[in-house]
Amino acid sequence: MGKGSYECKPETNKMKILGIETSCDETAAAIVQDGSKIISNVVSSQIDIHARYGGIVPEVASRQHLLTIIPVISQAMTGVSWQDINGIAVTFGPGLVGSLLVGVNLAKAMAVAGKLPLVGVNHLEAHIYANWLDSSLCGEKEGVEFPCLCLVVSGGHSDLVLMNGHEQFEKLGQTRDDAAGEAFDKAARILGLGYPGGPAVEQAARSGSPSLSLPRAWLRGSHDFSFSGLKTALWHLVSKGDVSVADAAASFQLAVVDVLVVKTIEAARQLKVKQILLSGGVAANKMLTQHFLASAPVPVLIPPPHLCTDNAAMVAACAYYHFQAGERSAYDLDVVPSLSFG
Ligand code: KG4
Ligand code: ZN
Repeated sequence: MGKGSYECKPETNKMKILGIETSCDETAAAIVQDGSKIISNVVSSQIDIHARYGGIVPEVASRQHLLTIIPVISQAMTGVSWQDINGIAVTFGPGLVGSLLVGVNLAKAMAVAGKLPLVGVNHLEAHIYANWLDSSLCGEKEGVEFPCLCLVVSGGHSDLVLMNGHEQFEKLGQTRDDAAGEAFDKAARILGLGYPGGPAVEQAARSGSPSLSLPRAWLRGSHDFSFSGLKTALWHLVSKGDVSVADAAASFQLAVVDVLVVKTIEAARQLKVKQILLSGGVAANKMLTQHFLASAPVPVLIPPPHLCTDNAAMVAACAYYHFQAGERSAYDLDVVPSLSFG
């Protein structure tokens, strides 16, 4: 492996990896073969539990992971024998410490008990690897080509990353304040649309017009993002009253999409990348994907919505390339809540 293009279906001797994801508020397990073929993909969401608090409560999240992780893994293993599993992959950061600990400790215990190799996976890199999963990669798409530019937009991160090859990441920019998903969540709260905010704002925006004037932080000369000024401007607009929630949602959504699309495409042109890869929960947003597809100068790869949001198939896909490179984590692997790229 390394630099250059990568075939859709690698010719290997069928490596099945069990992936585990508990970094935030989804308890997930999946089995992925050869880094691309999804055998099973189970996600148990805690959204209904956290919705009553208007956001994620870390203590509640870790307790819920404890209750759910074993049934989720059992479901992912339906029809698969433990003898068929070649390795275990688990997210070890970034994320909520109590949540990460549940997945990492269980993965270590299973690896030791089953004498299986273990790989700790960076959650942000895993989001990018959703683009290698079968349902993302095949069909009309030819496969991922390096160098590519990755936009990772989730509840905690808005990162622009140059990927020169497997495990070769160079972070170009990040948010200076709120992440894109966090901005959607806060906007939804301002507009009284509930939690999680992204899908709620997208839904409300469908019946509105993006006619209200809201600011865009371009941060010229930098690949960084900033969304907190936009959020404050929305709050001022709404607190004046007499504003349609649908129009405010549509205008807010367009402002976020404009900045993400324009800045990513600008970087893609500068760096002469072959492709743009979107990932993270915000990449499930239709307006964002439509604007990218309409204006990008290179092919844009976008996982289907259920693989943009947190899942364990992306963790297993990412781990495949670590295993192929001969990497293993020690059985004393610890969580790294503030993990970044590199
Ligand atoms: O990647 P993800 O599932 O979890 C994290 O790693 O954070 O991303 C969750 C974030 C939330 O902030 C959620 O509001 C946002 O992704 N999101 C969306 C949409 N679906 C989820 N934002 C905009 N439009 C959507 N359709
Ligand atoms: Zn995530």
